[in-house]
Amino acid sequence: MTPTPEIRPSVGAKFSRILGVGGYRPVRVIPNSEVLDWIDSSDEWIRTRSGITERRWAGAGESVAEMSVQAAGKAIAQAGVPAEKIGTVIVSTVTHLKQTPAVATEIADRLGCGTAPAFDISAACAGFGYGLSLADGLIRAGNAEYVLVIGVERLSDLTDKSDRSTAFIFGDGAGAAIVGPSDTPGIGKVIWGSDGSQRDVITQTQAWDSAMARPEAINGPTTAEDGAPAWPALRMEGQTVFRWAVWEMAKVAQQALDAAGITADQLGAFIPHQANMRITDAMIKALKLPESVPVARDIAETGNTSAASIPLAMERMLASGEAKSGDLALIIGFGAGLVYAAAVVTLP
Ligand code: UT7
Repeated sequence: MTPTPEIRPSVGAKFSRILGVGGYRPVRVIPNSEVLDWIDSSDEWIRTRSGITERRWAGAGESVAEMSVQAAGKAIAQAGVPAEKIGTVIVSTVTHLKQTPAVATEIADRLGCGTAPAFDISAACAGFGYGLSLADGLIRAGNAEYVLVIGVERLSDLTDKSDRSTAFIFGDGAGAAIVGPSDTPGIGKVIWGSDGSQRDVITQTQAWDSAMARPEAINGPTTAEDGAPAWPALRMEGQTVFRWAVWEMAKVAQQALDAAGITADQLGAFIPHQANMRITDAMIKALKLPESVPVARDIAETGNTSAASIPLAMERMLASGEAKSGDLALIIGFGAGLVYAAAVVTLP
């Protein structure tokens, strides 16, 4: 009997790293003073409880695809990798209005990525870390040489302007990274996971069907007469998520450091998901992060942009000189699901 032939193994690069990062921030700035037109609050309360002073909300021309193309263009330019060499496009978003087709296919087409596989993932605020984990695996398995990972949101479309527990928090934007082969490790073990028993603590009130029927209602739901949002909106049990983030996510961040064999004082940057400045401060304490390590505080001007928040914050730290190319950064994302992902990465 002839033996079953062995499949030729697919082997890729030994390691991977982020080669370029880019962001897109919508033109329209919404200061806290404007939020006060919708909810009973104060600039002081919003700043002290969340750290947010303003956020950006996308306008008509700033679709999920458009913002992604702009952010990806910058990441591609920084990486110096031609678009046609990108072997996979991964888009993490919870605010693309259609289940199918994936917005990633439009983005890949518009960027000129040829026939590259392109797909969306739904991993909320952990989306960038989930995308990096996938990219690292694809590159090392030889299934792609270069991977484009995008985190993009138009959370303003899912914001109920009358809900005082969320109306001030969310922002829009896109962040993108090109991940490619590397001779040295540039992405540490990704510590990622989920806790579906807490799936209801951040959730969308209803499916997009109603939204598709009323595209004119974009940028905030209107409230129906019975008080329920006529448009899908995000509902969040803020305190529950806050406590989970502070207690559980510091442990996950520490696991990512340990897995990478890095101590907090060796970091060149700490770039947590921009959910709340107080969560960031609590993590700094739990991790005993030395004061010398620069910390992303992009939330002040960007709000919480879910999947886009880490790459946007990374881009800002590199552009401002707060962090340098080649530095080690600890990233951690966490959010609806609940889901999380943390890793130590080398900055592009
Ligand atoms: O990105 C995904 C992950 N998301 C997160 O990690 C978000 C986690 N959660 C949070 O960031 C915080 O829970 C919020 C910023 C959303 C809320 O802050 P909080 O300190 O947890 O506020 P709270 O809900 O405990 O409310 C405290 C007080 C209450 O008043 P009393 O009962 O103490 O008199 C609220 O009624 O603040 C009141 N309050 C407000 N006051 C002014 C709630 N919302 C507002 C508001 N303006 N917008």
